Amino acid sequence: MNATDRTAPIVELRGIRKSFGELEVLCGIDLEIFAGEHVVIFGPSGSGKSTVLRSINLLEPPTSGSLKVAGIEYGPGVPGEKAGRRGKPLELRRTVGMVFQQFNLFPHLTALDNVALPLRSVRGVRRADAQVRSAEALRRVGLLPRAAHYPQQLSGGQQQRVAIARALALDPKVMLFDEPTSALDPELVGEVLKTMREVAETGMTMVVVTHELGFAREIGDLNVFMEDGVVVDSGPRGFFEETTSPRAREFIMAVR
Ligand SMILES: Nc1ncnc2c1ncn2[C@@H]1O[C@H](COP(=O)(O)OP(=O)(O)O)[C@@H](O)[C@H]1O
Ligand SMILES: [Mg+2]
Repeated sequence: MNATDRTAPIVELRGIRKSFGELEVLCGIDLEIFAGEHVVIFGPSGSGKSTVLRSINLLEPPTSGSLKVAGIEYGPGVPGEKAGRRGKPLELRRTVGMVFQQFNLFPHLTALDNVALPLRSVRGVRRADAQVRSAEALRRVGLLPRAAHYPQQLSGGQQQRVAIARALALDPKVMLFDEPTSALDPELVGEVLKTMREVAETGMTMVVVTHELGFAREIGDLNVFMEDGVVVDSGPRGFFEETTSPRAREFIMAVR
């Protein structure tokens, strides 16, 4: 168990709703995440897991509800409540890093330049400095020797580790992982989970959508089971054995 700072949540969702046209895909999500905590979100396809992550960094702005990160409101807010200080999306993206299922690396850039690009564009870091920080991030994921390689010269596992380095280099307060191993050949899953475990051990706050329930059991300080746009059940360590939700139990049995 990591030391978590439980004085104030670093991420707080209250009554988050999201609709695409007529379809409501998040139907009132409440979630509190404390600094240093490792949160696992799991559940069937289409339940809204990605939309929750994409709400947290405003890739999908919530239709209603409160989204606070480090105490600053980025959502529409709760009706009748004073909003307080409201933040801008760019400010939020400096705080929240994201790793996608499909890596999303630029094919024409080396590993080093893929990591350096957002450092320069989001953080405004100068070229030489960005190169040094990118090399350090690649070293953390064990890929410094591959710095000059292009994505197509790297395995899927290595590409995903570059994507993790890219997020780490921005020095985020929170990292979001959306099924980071789902696009990988089975023999490459382990190296990515190992890298994520190492990131977790540094005390990074992490929200991980995954079907790797073995890994989830290992890192999940808070475990959240979603279905049809709602949190059906959630709980601390031991959740996978102790949940009393029939749907969560059924899902866990089926995935195992
Ligand atoms: N941009 C979008 N436009 C319309 N519908 C969407 C969009 N993104 C997601 N959805 C729908 O929202 C629901 C939840 O999707 P998602 O959050 O991706 O679920 P999960 O990640 O749990 O599989 C699905 O029904 C999906 O089709
Ligand atoms: Mg998804």
